[in-house]
Amino acid sequence: MIYMDNASTTWKKPPAVSDTVYRSLQEGAGNPGRGANAVSLGSSGILLRTRGLLMELFQAPQPENVIFKASVTDALNTLLLGLLKPGDHVISSVMEHNSVLRPLEHLKQKGIITYDLLGADEEGRILLQELPQLERPETRAVILSHVSNLTGTLQPIEKVREKLKNKDIFILADAAQSAGYLPVGLISHDLDAIAFTGHKGLLGPQGTGGFALSDRLNAAMEPVFTGGTGSDSLSLHQPMFLPDKFESGTQNVAGIAGLAEGIKYIKELSLDIIRTNHQRLTEVFLQELSTLPEITLHGPATSAGRVPNFSMTFATLNPSEAAFRLEQDFGIIVRSGYHCAPLAHKAMGTFETGSVRISFGHFTTETELIQLIQALRTLCEVQHGRLP
Ligand SMILES: Cc1ncc(COP(=O)(O)O)c(C=O)c1O
Repeated sequence: MIYMDNASTTWKKPPAVSDTVYRSLQEGAGNPGRGANAVSLGSSGILLRTRGLLMELFQAPQPENVIFKASVTDALNTLLLGLLKPGDHVISSVMEHNSVLRPLEHLKQKGIITYDLLGADEEGRILLQELPQLERPETRAVILSHVSNLTGTLQPIEKVREKLKNKDIFILADAAQSAGYLPVGLISHDLDAIAFTGHKGLLGPQGTGGFALSDRLNAAMEPVFTGGTGSDSLSLHQPMFLPDKFESGTQNVAGIAGLAEGIKYIKELSLDIIRTNHQRLTEVFLQELSTLPEITLHGPATSAGRVPNFSMTFATLNPSEAAFRLEQDFGIIVRSGYHCAPLAHKAMGTFETGSVRISFGHFTTETELIQLIQALRTLCEVQHGRLP
C-alpha cells in the first residue's frame, strides 16, 4: 500500500510513537495530577515533558501555556467559545476547515457574534488586503488556518497584525496542516494562539491535540468545560490557573506520551530537512502533473508557499472514481470529496465536483512518487481509450 492521505492523518509514524503508547499502557499510566502516588507522578511527568516540547515548538511563554485537548477541533471550539462574548465580531476566511466555520456559524445562529470572511485568489491564498474593509470597532478576533487543508497553500498569517487598525485584536491560528511541516510560533508569527492536532504532521496518535496561548489571550478567556482537575478539589469553582483552567477530566496520557515521540522525531530531523525533502518531491510531482492535461491542479503551481498537499480534478473521471481506481488498481490511498472545506471548494471552483487530494508525509519516498506518477499517467490514458 502506498499511503498518500497524510493531510487526513499521517501514516507511517516513527516506531517510537507506537512503542511508547504500548509501553505506557502496558507498564501503567497513572492518573496525572490525581494523588501523589508513583504512577500518578509518572504520568504528570509525561504531560510536563510533552508540554515542554510543544512550548519550544510554538514559542509559548511557559509549559502551562500549552493546553491538551482531544483534537484541534476541540481546541478551536475551546478558544472561540471561551473568548467570544455577545456582540463580538470575528474575521476569518473562505479557506477554513469546518472546525472553524461551524463554531463561527453556530455562534452566529445563536445571535452571539457576527463574522466576515476574507476571500482567496486562484491559488487558495487569502486576500489579506481585504482585512481593513472587514475590521470593525467590535472585531475581537481574527482566526485563520496557517496552511489550507484543501490546496496546501501557506497563508501569510504573520502579516495579519500589521494590517489591523486595532493591534489588540486577538489573532488565532489553526496550525493543523502546518505543525510538523513548517515553523509556526506565537512570537515569530505574532499570534495569540496556535491550535494543533497531534495525529497529522506532529506524527502522534489520534485523540491528541491542543493549543498554545499567550498570557494576554488567557486573561481574556473563560473556561468552556469545567470539572475535575485534581487541583483545588474542595472548591466548586474551576481553577483559573493554567493549564487546569482549560483541562478538566483525565488526559490521554498514552497518546500524549506517543505525541512526545513524534515531536522528538521532527526536532531531531529538523523542519528544514523536512521542508527541503518535501520541496524536492513537490517539484518533481508538479513537473510531471504539468505533462498531464487531463488533470487540473487547484492550488499553488510551484513548490514555494505550499506544503505537499495537492487538490486536483480529472477531465473525465469524477474524484471518487479516480480515488477508487488509484486504490484498487495501484494500491495508492488518497482522499476524494470535500475535505470539510466547503467555502474553499467554492473559491477554487470545485464546489460542484469535490476533488482528489493527494498528500505526502514525512515518510513518502521517491519510489512511491514514481509509482504515483505512473498510476496517474495510466489513469489518464485509460480515460482517453488509449489502453484496453
Ligand atoms: C486545517 C484543519 N483544521 C482542522 C482540522 C480538524 O482536525 P481534527 O479532526 O484532528 O480535529 C483539520 C483536519 O483535517 C484541518 O486540516
